[in-house]
Amino acid sequence: MDRISLCQPDDWHLHLRDGATLRAVLPYTTARFARAIVMPNLVPPVTTVEAAGAYRQRILAARPAGSRFEPLMTLYLTDNTSPGTIRAAAASGFIHGVKLYPAGATTHSDSGVTDLHRCEAALAAMEAVDLPLLVHGEVTHAGVDIFDREACFIDEVLGPLLDRHPRLRVVFEHITTGRAARFVAAGPSRLAATITPQHLLFNRNRLLVGGLRPHDYCLPVLKRERDRQALLEAATSGNPSFFLGTDSAPHARSSKESACGCAGCFSSASAIELYARIFADAGRLDRLEGFASHHGPDFYRLPRNTSRITLVRQAQRIPDAFALDAGDTLVPLLAGELLDWSLESP
Ligand code: NCD
Ligand code: ZN
Repeated sequence: MDRISLCQPDDWHLHLRDGATLRAVLPYTTARFARAIVMPNLVPPVTTVEAAGAYRQRILAARPAGSRFEPLMTLYLTDNTSPGTIRAAAASGFIHGVKLYPAGATTHSDSGVTDLHRCEAALAAMEAVDLPLLVHGEVTHAGVDIFDREACFIDEVLGPLLDRHPRLRVVFEHITTGRAARFVAAGPSRLAATITPQHLLFNRNRLLVGGLRPHDYCLPVLKRERDRQALLEAATSGNPSFFLGTDSAPHARSSKESACGCAGCFSSASAIELYARIFADAGRLDRLEGFASHHGPDFYRLPRNTSRITLVRQAQRIPDAFALDAGDTLVPLLAGELLDWSLESP
């Protein structure tokens, strides 16, 4: 197959940032995706319906002319999120999930949840109004090895949470391990997971062997080859509990190439093409549409898109960098490498 037409995909996990960075990165997403679940980890975080509404307006204003891209907003859960805020979020019509960042787990998570038991009233409200919880699935205690943080989160937080709230819908974001893939596959249909291109493409050797590659550093960190294989199997299995979420997370080159570099890979400028390569290499291109375009809206109870995109097997070279404001640049995932799939202009 050298050409494939898909129901237009959506990105179910995306960081758009704000201001000049938002304006720089948004066109890459709108060229490919009809909608995206927009992460709320701004500084300060998006913790109120009002702040989410204002952020949504800034995103709409930053769309390229003629774009009908729809940002699906999220709220940032804190120890103090009230049930009233949850009910108002559900009633807003534009907020589609609430994001759990364990405090200290990742970029801009300082205001995150210190102990999920403090959020019981908010979680009960989410269950009552059927607003999904989106989780960054890592524990943060200093004693837990960074490669074990996701598995530990399943045992200590996610499993008990699903038992305590039997109707709560949960997206386990950017899963990185075979353990997480098996947990989701064996779980109820109210549990789903997003999978990023970097976790399907690389294992941790890519990050650490032959030199440290800061542009491949994201959280949760890349894991073993057997984990990558399990994620690939899950993504291409046709199981509706797995869907596309790039976790594209732009950071300026200067903050990535640093003595204490930021976590996050920028992939939106070739996101659907990367997934096409991954699915084609796995011999499962026929399963791309389910993963990229059907499973996500079905889980979020939104209509599937009626627009379509076409991908062609035609080489493109991923740019070395993209311009950002103030002279800084943004280095994309697989910078400078050849990609054998391209997006055909509509
Ligand atoms: C994300 C970011 O930079 O906002 N970074 C990342 O490594 N994925 C935050 C997140 O999703 O963990
Ligand atoms: Zn993310």
